[in-house]
Amino acid sequence: KIAPAPRHFLDLTDFSSSELRTVLDACADLKRRRRKGEPPAERPLAGKFLAMVFDKPSTRTRVSFDVAMRELGGETLMLTGREMQIGRGETVADTARVLSRYIDAIMIRILDHGMMLELAEYATVPVINGLTKDSHPCQIMADVLTFEEHRGSIKGRTVAWSGDANNVLASWAHAAARFDFTLNVACPPEMPVPESLIARAKAEGATLNITADPFEAVAGADCVVTDCWVSMGDEDEAHRHNLLMPYQVNGRLMAAAAKDAVFMHCLPAHRGEEVTAEVIDGPQSVVFDEAENRLHAQKGILAWCLGAVP
Ligand code: CP
Ligand code: NVA
Repeated sequence: KIAPAPRHFLDLTDFSSSELRTVLDACADLKRRRRKGEPPAERPLAGKFLAMVFDKPSTRTRVSFDVAMRELGGETLMLTGREMQIGRGETVADTARVLSRYIDAIMIRILDHGMMLELAEYATVPVINGLTKDSHPCQIMADVLTFEEHRGSIKGRTVAWSGDANNVLASWAHAAARFDFTLNVACPPEMPVPESLIARAKAEGATLNITADPFEAVAGADCVVTDCWVSMGDEDEAHRHNLLMPYQVNGRLMAAAAKDAVFMHCLPAHRGEEVTAEVIDGPQSVVFDEAENRLHAQKGILAWCLGAVP
């Protein structure tokens, strides 16, 4: 008998629109239950173990996955690359095979996207992408949930990104293809959106408009998003600051968006760099709802990966 393929959560483009909508509905439902103080139906992940492998720092992803798993009745193990034999040369494939014998799912944060894919190839349990250099799909599930809670369906709306064309932008582009919204991107011509990202998003059907002018990108947008100028792994590229300064989300830039536009940022934020305090701490900012929604999003994702959502 052939075992069914594990339900990995690696990138949004691996799913159909309706599959993603099913997962997002599960996230929203689990959030409603928590708000009402109702326990999730019979603790659906009781007896299940999630290994959380972190090769890079994290606050939100680490804590939200940990709490999500426990609230659904499961248990977690926290592992860091340095403490594992993988840090001394054990192969990713062998690590995947061994972990699969002990635990029920693996969430991994590792810069090398290829290593995450290799882990998924050899694991016989679901692997969840907790951020790589190429993408951050769990974040964007929380972001879509947040946008829709504040402004209704994201379908047909416009999201504008101003700043570094990084992993978070990549997952926004994947989401644009699946949730059917327009994504406008403004970034410095010296640090262009990678061709591979554009090609993939467009092949998946995303409406993606790229410009060097942040005011053109945000004009009339329903949501303005940015992220740090220096992502994990980019620490030695200090010249980024000068190139990215014109893309800072400040009051003047926000004023060019739709009147009721929301401001989003995956956090951690750097006030005075990619965003001013006036914007991130201002009335249009939904960044802490967004951070909270990581918890609810992780629950829906875990429940789906572990078969508790059909
Ligand atoms: N947004 C996000 O992934 O935050 P952490 O790096 O704190 O997990
Ligand atoms: N783009 C950032 C996101 C952090 C959550 C990074 O990769 O460091």
